[in-house]
Amino acid sequence: MNKYQAEIKIKKLSDEIEIHNHNYYVNDAPTISDFEFDKLLEELIELEKQFPELILPTSPSQRVGGAVTKVFKSVKHTYPMLSLSNSYSTEDMIDFDRKVQEGLGLQPNDLFSSSSVNYVCELKFDGLSIGLTYKDGELVQAVTRGDGVQGDEVTVNVKTIKSIPLKLKGNFPSDFEIRGEIFMARNIFDQINKEREEIGEQALANPRNAASGTMKMQDSAVVASRKLDCFLYYLLGEDIPFKTHFENLNAAKSWGFKISKHSKLLNNINEVIDFIDYWDKERYKLPFDIDGIVIKVNDYKQQLQLGFTAKSPRWAIAYKFKAEQVSTELLEITYQVGRTGAITPVANLKPVALGGTVVKRASLHNADIIEKLDVRVGDVVFVEKGGEIIPKIIGVDFTKRKANSQPTNYISKCPECNTELKRVEGEANHFCPNDSACPPQVKGRLEHFASRKAMNIDSLGSETIDQLFKAELIKDIADLYELKKEQLLPLERMAEKSATNLLEGIEASKQVPFERVLYAIGIRHVGETTAKKIAKKVKSLEALIKLTKEQLLETDEVGEVIAISILDFFASEINRNMINRLKNAGLTLELTQEQQKAGSNKLNGFTFVISGVFNKHSRDQLKELIEFNGGKNSSSISSKTSYLLAGDNMGPEKLKKAQSLAIKIINEDDFEKMINE
Ligand code: IVH
Repeated sequence: MNKYQAEIKIKKLSDEIEIHNHNYYVNDAPTISDFEFDKLLEELIELEKQFPELILPTSPSQRVGGAVTKVFKSVKHTYPMLSLSNSYSTEDMIDFDRKVQEGLGLQPNDLFSSSSVNYVCELKFDGLSIGLTYKDGELVQAVTRGDGVQGDEVTVNVKTIKSIPLKLKGNFPSDFEIRGEIFMARNIFDQINKEREEIGEQALANPRNAASGTMKMQDSAVVASRKLDCFLYYLLGEDIPFKTHFENLNAAKSWGFKISKHSKLLNNINEVIDFIDYWDKERYKLPFDIDGIVIKVNDYKQQLQLGFTAKSPRWAIAYKFKAEQVSTELLEITYQVGRTGAITPVANLKPVALGGTVVKRASLHNADIIEKLDVRVGDVVFVEKGGEIIPKIIGVDFTKRKANSQPTNYISKCPECNTELKRVEGEANHFCPNDSACPPQVKGRLEHFASRKAMNIDSLGSETIDQLFKAELIKDIADLYELKKEQLLPLERMAEKSATNLLEGIEASKQVPFERVLYAIGIRHVGETTAKKIAKKVKSLEALIKLTKEQLLETDEVGEVIAISILDFFASEINRNMINRLKNAGLTLELTQEQQKAGSNKLNGFTFVISGVFNKHSRDQLKELIEFNGGKNSSSISSKTSYLLAGDNMGPEKLKKAQSLAIKIINEDDFEKMINE
């Protein structure tokens, strides 16, 4: 294929992929299978690899991420990003309506007549606000709120959000900004927390924090994996097509934006109040969190007339839902042992309706909180469902405390294995140190080991693990590789076929590549990405075991916490024995010949600093190439730097420093020659 043909094909593929993205992520109505979609995307990426000069900033390949931003550029908002004043009651709403009418010089309306102000009611999405600028139909910039005057430019990260169009369709203005809310759907949030729990990371508190934390991440590939979403709700610009907000929302929808189907044009404040009441009850059925309703005057002329205060528009207001609160009896406090040994006290409650579900349990967090609230069994407690998913106890109704009530004594021994609990200085939770034999910890590790992204042993689900553990056939992951069919067959629900499947699955896992084995063995804080980076650098488990802390710290992604966790893991004799048994069983504990051969030592002993923007490779790709060929990356120039690999728009400071230290400056072509020679 020549370059001209490639250009045509790339355009065709890109358009097709974006239509499918829109169908899937905006319309919720996919028209091809994931497999077919992946094939199209792979074809595009392959072509772009052959013709890197044809990669467009709006290419769907940009959604995969890969670019790393160390520091986000601070950008001034074209229009300041104001917030809304809050209201909490029907009275507040009536008051808002009165002020709007007054501001417009209208006679205060009888509550029940139709007024001449129309309102648009929208869901108040609980995420982080974003301003997207489009020029000639292409997304050129995405900026966070920041302090309202200037925010962070996070365009590379935003491009990974599939529901945000990179190119618009239809009849859009040539230059405008659209604002909206980036959020994380609840099912994605739950899934991420499950994975975090598996590797011993602290759970993210709520979807809002998860979304805003994700937007600040440096590695856009990780942002892509977090599957954020975005609703848009506010257009700004010189030539916005319509004179009312609602018409413009509909127009924006036709250009390809994700506009909530729940936005409604209403005739008066009574209808607004009904809308609020409806969503106060129904909000729990949505797949994402909202924390209220936003009410906006529909007509732009009226908006202009009403204007702004220093902080917020007078033509709009946010109604915030109250966190629903109920009181009920605390029947018992039980203690859960997590996969990492962390102990969580759980309040078992007399069942009570709250936030659309019946609540029977609530989190009590840790010993300090129990003590601070002075919660006791038999108390009547207040329970709230706030932004957090799990309801929490926020206080005790002391007027109802029984005379014979006893202060709560926090447990001192593990409820699962009776080991004395420990508490690490500075950490809130107690934990059970018996990680090698405490049942939920052992089973948790086995489940993680068998999970899809780890060893992917399909036939080894949590029930089977439970069964094998109870029958004392497995106590650690190495035991799996010593299982015999005769041991399995006597077990309940374990027919010949399922036993064979299980053993075949375990056998097949011996071919799983080293980086996934490294993730699977469950070293605390070593997630999928970190495992990959470590595997690539050290090449074998044997080499990893020998590394010192300083050497570990030289690996990308490995900081103090991870380094110490790795050292601790291999310092344990139990773990070293287990690794030996895995080795004898024939697991893949090093990179394959193929993986090893692919690299070279051409850049051995050289340290590179990359700066600027490049034509053929992303900065991440360049970094990988450097490491792949035995070189080292560094972010700052010093006398140890061998080469400054310079692209376009390089920072002048870096250039000056490199020149003053007489460091060789090379461009992308020079670099390619170095590794291809
Ligand atoms: S309109 C000038 N509409 O709530 C008006 N905001 O406290 C701009 N939000 O900063 C905001 N859903 O981050 C608007 N449907 C919606 C919204 C919404 C959520 C957020 C937004 C805003 C904050 C106001």
